[in-house]
Amino acid sequence: MSINSLVRGYWEDGACGTDADIVGTTANQSREWFERIEQHRYTVEPYIHSVAQFTLYHGKKVLEVGVGAGTDHLQWARAGAQCFGVDLTDEAIETTTAHLALHGFESNLQRVDAETLPFEDDTFDVVYSWGVIHHSDAPERIISEIHRVLKPGGRFIGMMYGRYSLATLRVWTKNALLKGKPWRSFSDVLYHHVESLGTKAYTVRELAKMFSKFRTVSARKIITYYDKKGLPSFISRILPDDMGWFVALRSTK
Ligand SMILES: C[S@@+](CC[C@H](N)C(=O)[O-])C[C@H]1O[C@@H](n2cnc3c(N)ncnc32)[C@H](O)[C@@H]1O
Repeated sequence: MSINSLVRGYWEDGACGTDADIVGTTANQSREWFERIEQHRYTVEPYIHSVAQFTLYHGKKVLEVGVGAGTDHLQWARAGAQCFGVDLTDEAIETTTAHLALHGFESNLQRVDAETLPFEDDTFDVVYSWGVIHHSDAPERIISEIHRVLKPGGRFIGMMYGRYSLATLRVWTKNALLKGKPWRSFSDVLYHHVESLGTKAYTVRELAKMFSKFRTVSARKIITYYDKKGLPSFISRILPDDMGWFVALRSTK
């Protein structure tokens, strides 16, 4: 079975960010269910708004790659963007459709593998993708497709995982060091033990190279909840972004 089929199987089981510890006993896809998901998301990832800057793109044509539960997609709709979205799973497309409908919005959503985007060249003002591209078997192919469908001067905005981070060290400690296999590399443990099989993570330099077809590339590490989890607050408060799991990306075609 291909990596992307396994990735699809993993996320068909439940859209990203809809775990039981977040939604509790609320009814599936009810207003309260979606509100808990939204509240949790921006509590643990508060920097999403300053990276995405949703409200700058009123009236613009925005494609989101990997919509998940549609929480960021809702922010694009609220900002008045013309919304398009793709995801590998029916689960994400159905959940995002319901999420937007609850607030009176619609989007053009399709279930596709983003390695081949079903859009003409030079179509979008913005392509946005948060925590998605590194799950694909061929991230470079998705980046090339994003570049192709962006208009000249269009923006890619997104996030991919950073390889050297406290979150990585946590995964490595649990699955390599404590299993008596300290020779396992960071890339190997992330590939096998973070979310779906095949997850990748990169250095800022590697990402800059992957996006080198773009006219400008900015890649900035962010220290996250996933790095700080379980640490006393007097330590987590002083941790530098350089030790962070997320790399925020902004590129111009
Ligand atoms: C970690 S979730 C992130 C979802 C959402 N962007 C968020 O931040 O909550 C990864 C999502 O990417 C989708 N995905 C993974 N590989 C994909 C691909 N090759 N093409 C399209 N979507 C993909 C998955 O189905 C899943 O919904």
